[in-house]
Amino acid sequence: MPKSEIILNAFTMNAVSHVNYGLWRHDEDQAFRHDDLDYWIGLAEVLEEGGFDAVFIADALGLLDTYGGGAAESLRRGVQSPLSDPLLLVSALAGASRHLGIGVTVSTTYEQPYLLARKFTTLDQLSGGRVAWNIVTSQLESAARNLGLERQVDHDERYDRADEFLTVAYKLWQGSWEDDAVVADKGSAARPDGLYADPARVHAIDHHGRFFRVPGPHIAQPSPQRVPVLFQAGGSPRGQRFAARHAELVFVAGADAAGVRRNVETIRALAREEGRAPDAIRFVSAVAVVVAPTRAEAESRFADYRRFYDATGALVHYSASTGVDFSDADQDAPIRYLETNSNRSLLRMFDDPDGGRSWTLRQALAPEGGFGRTRTFVGDPIAVADGLEDWLEATGTDGINLIHVVSPGSFVDFSRLVVPELIRRGRRPAGRPEVPLTLRERLFGAAPRPPVDHPAARHGFPHRAATSEARPE
Ligand SMILES: Cc1cc2nc3c(=O)[nH]c(=O)nc-3n(C[C@H](O)[C@H](O)[C@H](O)COP(=O)(O)O)c2cc1C
Repeated sequence: MPKSEIILNAFTMNAVSHVNYGLWRHDEDQAFRHDDLDYWIGLAEVLEEGGFDAVFIADALGLLDTYGGGAAESLRRGVQSPLSDPLLLVSALAGASRHLGIGVTVSTTYEQPYLLARKFTTLDQLSGGRVAWNIVTSQLESAARNLGLERQVDHDERYDRADEFLTVAYKLWQGSWEDDAVVADKGSAARPDGLYADPARVHAIDHHGRFFRVPGPHIAQPSPQRVPVLFQAGGSPRGQRFAARHAELVFVAGADAAGVRRNVETIRALAREEGRAPDAIRFVSAVAVVVAPTRAEAESRFADYRRFYDATGALVHYSASTGVDFSDADQDAPIRYLETNSNRSLLRMFDDPDGGRSWTLRQALAPEGGFGRTRTFVGDPIAVADGLEDWLEATGTDGINLIHVVSPGSFVDFSRLVVPELIRRGRRPAGRPEVPLTLRERLFGAAPRPPVDHPAARHGFPHRAATSEARPE
């Protein structure tokens, strides 16, 4: 897509509430129906109609049980608990849309690359190349305990495992099946038995590493993108290095433009060190929007939503993400950075000497009176479009991850009121191509597969074919 266009993602979770703490109690919110397929099909239709580039589904692998030392409050308040599997939604969302990209979160800490590579290949096949993977390393102790560990693997080691995980996945996706491996000849005079796949063009990968041993070949034939578009959101120094190496789209969070810009610039500089083009990575930030035809209506809706905002629910989430139990914390004392084994960048966002910031919990819970730790835009369509353009300019980002205050209502309002204004300004495309594009083509205006400066390309053909020694009989 042209640089002038704003990337537009919808941000959600397969849960009662995501980061819109407490809003599930509002009459307009439908996300409590997350266990009903019709809810998801309706959401895909709304996003397709609104021309969204992608829906991005967050995930975690445990109940949020840090606050107060248990999961009682997260369950009571429906804060990302209960939580259903996002990957299993993808085929249904793909079936209900033609153009919409579908980004789904999966952790490298608890999966096996051989199995996960097949899942993404399958979803990319079934969606016609519209799938993205949000790579996370996980941050919850409750996940570790339920997945056979006494405690989480150390923060930075999780990223070491993730690096190798990606290498294995690249080998499977890119270096196992040559493009012409699938012949699909049902039978001819020359080949009376037919030939589905040419075994000489399906290669072992023979991976022996610190974390994984995978001989291959990849069990599934290639999909349109081969490699799902890679999303990532690591914010710690090790996480930023990982993003700089692998990510194509990076999610950044934060309500203050200077902090977001610093994060973006750091990752861009690291990406250059990794040998990638300066614009190889695109950035989107999480924002909330409350829009109505007039400013007065928007403000009155915002005030109405604010009445449902559950600050304790936000604390339940922050506690789980950071690994710090905030249940007894003084809300007016500054939050202190700690080298926890969970999400370090969230604490750094609140206690950031470089950015001259030292927030109290009360500030962190509602910056500028908005929702949680994201920037919130309230107003008529022109004011919201102005605010978004200024925000993108100030942060150096390329687009937004729109959180829902109510779902699908927030996405419907944005589609009906803000998207036409963005189209008028040349910041969103006026139509869709006749033939749907893959997500990578859509976002980067390039080929469906990773570009040559991406590490996945090093494992692809013709390089792999040229160096391949053992061809199976
Ligand atoms: C917009 C955004 C979305 C995220 N979504 C998820 C998610 O769905 N699941 C998850 O485990 N972590 C998620 N994270 C957390 C990141 O993966 C990462 O752990 C976090 O930013 C901290 O960085 P660090 O791991 O490098 O310390 C998200 C972060 C951001 C900023």
